Amino acid sequence: MVKPLHPLLKKAYDPDRFVKLGQEILLDLQAHLVKSQSKSSPASMPWVSPEEERLHWEKRLQTPIGLPALMREVVERSNQLQDPRYMGHQVAVPFPDGALVGMVTDLLNNGGAIYEMGPTNSAMEEVLMSQIGKLMGLPEGCGGVMCHGGTLANLVALLAARRWKGGAESDPWESGDDELGAVLVSEQAHYCVDRAVRIMGWGSEGVGLVPTDQHHRITKEGLEEAWDRLQSKGRRVVAVVGSACTTSVGAYDELHVLADFADRHGLWFHVDGAHGAAAAFSTTHRHWVSGIERAHSVAMDFHKIMGVPALCTGLFYGQQDHSFLPFTQKAEYLWSDAEDPEWWNFGKRTFECTKRMLSTRVAAVLEEYGPEIWGHLVDRLFGLGNALAEQLKARKGFELAMSPDANIVCFRHVPESRMDASDEEMDRFTAALRQLHLERGPQYVVQTRFGGKTWLRCTLMNPLTEPQDLSDMLGRLEELGAEITLQ
Ligand SMILES: Cc1ncc(COP(=O)(O)O)c(C=O)c1O
Repeated sequence: MVKPLHPLLKKAYDPDRFVKLGQEILLDLQAHLVKSQSKSSPASMPWVSPEEERLHWEKRLQTPIGLPALMREVVERSNQLQDPRYMGHQVAVPFPDGALVGMVTDLLNNGGAIYEMGPTNSAMEEVLMSQIGKLMGLPEGCGGVMCHGGTLANLVALLAARRWKGGAESDPWESGDDELGAVLVSEQAHYCVDRAVRIMGWGSEGVGLVPTDQHHRITKEGLEEAWDRLQSKGRRVVAVVGSACTTSVGAYDELHVLADFADRHGLWFHVDGAHGAAAAFSTTHRHWVSGIERAHSVAMDFHKIMGVPALCTGLFYGQQDHSFLPFTQKAEYLWSDAEDPEWWNFGKRTFECTKRMLSTRVAAVLEEYGPEIWGHLVDRLFGLGNALAEQLKARKGFELAMSPDANIVCFRHVPESRMDASDEEMDRFTAALRQLHLERGPQYVVQTRFGGKTWLRCTLMNPLTEPQDLSDMLGRLEELGAEITLQ
């Protein structure tokens, strides 16, 4: 017996109610944009300790107050990325119309492992991956898949590398690995490459960390040294991974050097361009990714400096057919022939089964603005990185870690009174300053550690940030630094 439609279900699917709620929420979001862009909130990151925030929601969620009110509260208590004073993590300050696309795709919910679950979305993905790959400089015949995040894209690329390196006679997907493999990657690389190698069962020694120079770039000598080390341990190296750029300081590896090395040793060449491959779209900054055209695979996050809401990543292959290397998964309920390279059944090439309608988000950017908007965004954000570095050099009491290649800038505040402080004292001071700034704002910057020192770290993601905002942030750090008494 089928129960009659419950009034709650009727309410949930009511189109008129949907529009009414939508209008209210949309107007609230407009107000949020105006408030954020005009820096009218007390801080771009409304800091509350994890325990306080948990207690807040524990209490608050006991008494529902309706969707628009809940959304207002979420907006109020969330990080204000659209505020030009947000200079912290590497997530996109999304083009606001991306939120409208999200509304449409969430309602359609056509994301799928197979064509039949999302025909439009699948076909668009195939077209866009080839089109954007070529714009990045990859050869004719390139292509790829979209997935949820750079972390996953890097893992899948390394699975492709392992299969490719093993040749036709080996299929580790079927029979498991018969020897321990390894990957060469910068000691400055994002931790997800290390994690991918461990997931593949090669342990910590499978991560061949390559030393970098004072500019945080892999060197030729470093590559040879790491190669010899892995050879002496009997490791079968399958790939070399270039960072474009690194996470901590935003340094670009010299991709031609890595591509030459990969050619010489018959390795797969993967570029982790999660953060910075977007430089390919800027005529001014494209030189940083020169050599990307020689990569077997490239991971690029549309949700970093490309204005798309997270998560939305492209895993590009120089040759589209390489995208079938990672998996040969049997799944009779989805497709009948696991070996058949059907481009339209994306689940054959992605780690995920169901995925969101990712290609629609990217298509929307191209539809409204064209790919040139990515070049303008890169130019603006990298320009802000450079402007901050110039201010740090000109302003007394600050130490710049490295002239930035991109929009990531690491530095320390060294007030006159602490000029003679030891490294440990400076680390303590930097951490205390960062904590105080986190609590009081109004800007938001983060902290990192490398070269044996603790640094403050800004990633300039918001194109509405102005040089004056950078100078205000440095002034605020000076002000707060003067309050810190610890030795
Ligand atoms: C260079 C690099 N690779 C990979 C990642 C991980 O990407 P995601 O957060 O999309 O998984 C990041 C994230 O910051 C990154 O900077």
